[in-house]
Amino acid sequence: MAEKIVILTGAGLSAESGLGTFRDAGGLWAQHRIEDVATPEGFARDPALVHAFYNARRQQAATATPNAAHIALARLQKNWPGEVILVSQNVDGLHESAGATALHMHGILAGALCAACGHRWPAPSEMRPQTPCPDCHAPAARPDVVWFGEMPYHMEEIDNHLRDCAMFAAIGTSGQVYPAAGFVVEAAQAGAETVELNLERTEISRAFDRHHIGPATDVVPRWVDGLLTGGARRLPFA
Ligand code: APR
Repeated sequence: MAEKIVILTGAGLSAESGLGTFRDAGGLWAQHRIEDVATPEGFARDPALVHAFYNARRQQAATATPNAAHIALARLQKNWPGEVILVSQNVDGLHESAGATALHMHGILAGALCAACGHRWPAPSEMRPQTPCPDCHAPAARPDVVWFGEMPYHMEEIDNHLRDCAMFAAIGTSGQVYPAAGFVVEAAQAGAETVELNLERTEISRAFDRHHIGPATDVVPRWVDGLLTGGARRLPFA
């Protein structure tokens, strides 16, 4: 049975596609208060502000293009003999634009959710507090993204994958937000080999067996080439 690889991706993967990260200098959380734009309380307090924040990110993401790292991950998912499960914290659609499939545990900017009836539909580029739900017609549209204090999506499926993967990789994530930051420990406890690919060491670096330091568009294609030519155990680029 070919080995299963689980790959957690974060904002650093899309940085070179021009989409800002959250905690790097000048990142999104330096420009906005999380409690104002990424919590249910903030949405209840000022839905227009939250919609404006996500409308801007949705429009920016819609014009972004996948970079060499997204493309390499899609190539790995296509050519690896076992399963490659991409678990993304990112809400952009760049994995899909590169031809990959991903479990979006924090939701997607391109999705709208009705806070009244739970209906989901493709988000218009501009959503407002009075945008009606196409199903129940309530003016209760919200971005289909997971805010702080809400349960991430696909957690049961993700946990099952972490328990039976041979390799776990984290790419472009600072490891500061749970439950994603704890995935490496879950995978290691199940016997997986763990590797971190990032521009720099992170708060969870010590939990990984291996590290590849550098920009994602450099280290990810080389890591994928190593896997596809040498196999997970004989990485020349270890
Ligand atoms: N190549 C590789 N890594 C990069 C690059 C790059 N070009 N640029 C930045 N990074 C790394 C940074 O070193 C950092 O470790 O990407 C990481 C970005 O960290 P964050 O901004 O915290 O993003 P992320 O880890 O995805 O945040 C997790 O927090 O706010 C929530 O929901 C939000 O999904 C997000 C979650």
